[in-house]
Amino acid sequence: MVFCSFLWLLVLFLLHKTLLGHAWAVNNFLMTGPKAYLTYASSVQVGAQSGIQECKHQFAWDRWNCPESALQLSTHKGLRSATSETSFVHAISAAGVMYTLTRNCSLGDLDNCGCDGSRNGQIGGRGWLWGGCSDNLDFGERMSKQYVDALETGQDSRAAVNLHNNEAGRLAVKATMKRICRCHGMSESCSVQTCWMQLSDFRDIGNYLKIKHDQAQKLEMDKRRMRSGNSADNRGAIADAFSSIARTELIYLEESPDYCSQNASLGLHGTEGRECLQHGEGLNQWEKRSCRRLCHECGLRVEERRTEIVSSCNCKFQWCCTVKCENCSQVMVKHVCARREGGHGHNYRRRFRGPK
Ligand SMILES: *[C@@H]1O[C@H](CO)[C@@H](O)[C@H](O)[C@H]1NC(C)=O
Ligand SMILES: *[C@@H]1O[C@H](CO)[C@@H](O)[C@H](O)[C@H]1NC(C)=O
Ligand SMILES: *[C@@H]1O[C@H](CO)[C@@H](O)[C@H](O)[C@H]1NC(C)=O
Repeated sequence: MVFCSFLWLLVLFLLHKTLLGHAWAVNNFLMTGPKAYLTYASSVQVGAQSGIQECKHQFAWDRWNCPESALQLSTHKGLRSATSETSFVHAISAAGVMYTLTRNCSLGDLDNCGCDGSRNGQIGGRGWLWGGCSDNLDFGERMSKQYVDALETGQDSRAAVNLHNNEAGRLAVKATMKRICRCHGMSESCSVQTCWMQLSDFRDIGNYLKIKHDQAQKLEMDKRRMRSGNSADNRGAIADAFSSIARTELIYLEESPDYCSQNASLGLHGTEGRECLQHGEGLNQWEKRSCRRLCHECGLRVEERRTEIVSSCNCKFQWCCTVKCENCSQVMVKHVCARREGGHGHNYRRRFRGPK
């Protein structure tokens, strides 16, 4: 399974919560028991999955391409880094869960929530009134906090960074909302409009967070205070470091490793063998430079690979009653990063380093 590591953790987490049983569920005003909890669980899982899919889309032509090894959101096991890439994973996952549950809410998929009509009938601005079905963010936000933030059980600066990035993801869902209006009045004169707030496409949220990733800030902590070992000092140092950073921004603790090269201990595959886009219509700047970024700047060359695809074509109907087709072959050209002849690609000195 593609999404296994994160989803598996989520499933384990949910089972754990379910087995904890009624005491936990009763405490929760939304739940009536483990069954209700699992009702949301499948929607949460869909949400997390859409986050990961969006991550793969956004980073398809980056050296780091959102590999499965990066999709571990919890402290359960293993090494976790807090790079700007992991900050994106956290934000988009939290956003995905919030987004899906908010949609579920508006579509009436869930029993205990629906549209937000609290402002309906009130004047919203010049020439428009609130009306219709505004997406109700509260429920999705709460669910995202409850499920995604709960995966973070640490107390340290790393945990604080992850939670901050989860929150930034949820704020991205809010920031990208759109006001949609409908005209009323004599023969659609539009003298009066009613408007409601609606979620953007999830793609817009992905684009928004990709920009936040590119501008991610490093959290600088007062090392001396951290080293003192005093937990009050420790918390103070973390709080101070966060005070200068807006809640909407993604943050990281560690510089990204070299994504050009393979590194098994970090679960990185390197860019050798990756496809890049050489030519083609409708490519944006980022895509057009993908061969340079993935291959050349990583000390690799671009190899052209041709594959022949045979498919039936020129089909003719023959009386009566058969269809005769010809075989047409089409050559597909793909560009792939490959090692330079006579050299070990990665030993070449590269002009550029960095995570891109
Ligand atoms: C919530 O929405 C997702 C995605 O649209 C869907 O797969 C899921 O079944 C929905 N949940 C419920 C309870 O209908
Ligand atoms: C893998 O990454 C770690 C941490 O950055 C580094 O110490 C190690 O040398 C790397 N290994 C290889 C084979 O590049
Ligand atoms: C087309 O290719 C298929 C499978 O390769 C073959 O069985 C078939 O005879 C071919 N048809 C023609 C018209 O050449």
